[in-house]
Amino acid sequence: MKKLYLVANWKSYKTSVDAQNWFSIASNQQIPINKEEKEVVVCVPFTVLAEAKQSIVKSQLTLSLGAQDISPFAEGAYTGEVYGKQIAEFAHYVIIGHSERRQHFGDTDEVLEKKVAMSLDFGLTPIFCVQGKDTPIPQGVTIVAYEPVSAIGSGQPDSPENADGVAKAIKERGGFSVLYGGSVSPDNVHTFTTMEDIDGVLVGGASLIAEKFIQIVNNA
Ligand code: PGA
Repeated sequence: MKKLYLVANWKSYKTSVDAQNWFSIASNQQIPINKEEKEVVVCVPFTVLAEAKQSIVKSQLTLSLGAQDISPFAEGAYTGEVYGKQIAEFAHYVIIGHSERRQHFGDTDEVLEKKVAMSLDFGLTPIFCVQGKDTPIPQGVTIVAYEPVSAIGSGQPDSPENADGVAKAIKERGGFSVLYGGSVSPDNVHTFTTMEDIDGVLVGGASLIAEKFIQIVNNA
């Protein structure tokens, strides 16, 4: 049986009070316990990482934590940046190269390569987003998320068949686990995770509601 990655991406949503509520609702849901079968990762804003970690430890949840970006530098005079060691205090994963970062924050292929190198230096696992089968993938990446821009937040997901074809093509470039992202819901998640070459999903909007996200995890 393949290992599935079910990844939540909260983007710029939720205060620490909201996060507390989310984890408290999640702790009342049935979350899969075997991380070898289903690795469930919640990628939260930097400001709520500490709160999220505390909630997970307190309620002994089988959830892993991730950040949504990382500084391309190590510690130093880089105002506003959060570097790998600071993230690694709380999280194991980091999303790198999301199309929203490429579009709004000028993350180039060169910067993304540095971000991946930094994440690996500090023991974080990058979840590297690509927008198509030919998007450059930096050295050291093991988990890739295919997210066609038109499918993000639009309610118009890619077809499972097309996404599977892209996942296959990406796998042929290296031994990656490939996730699909873009308008994933509790109703359609299964159509993606049952495809041969899709190893999980990256979920934005539907991950903001704890019950909905855990439903996605359980339906996958
Ligand atoms: P969506 O976002 O699930 O809201 O489409 C996915 C993403 O941007 O990672």
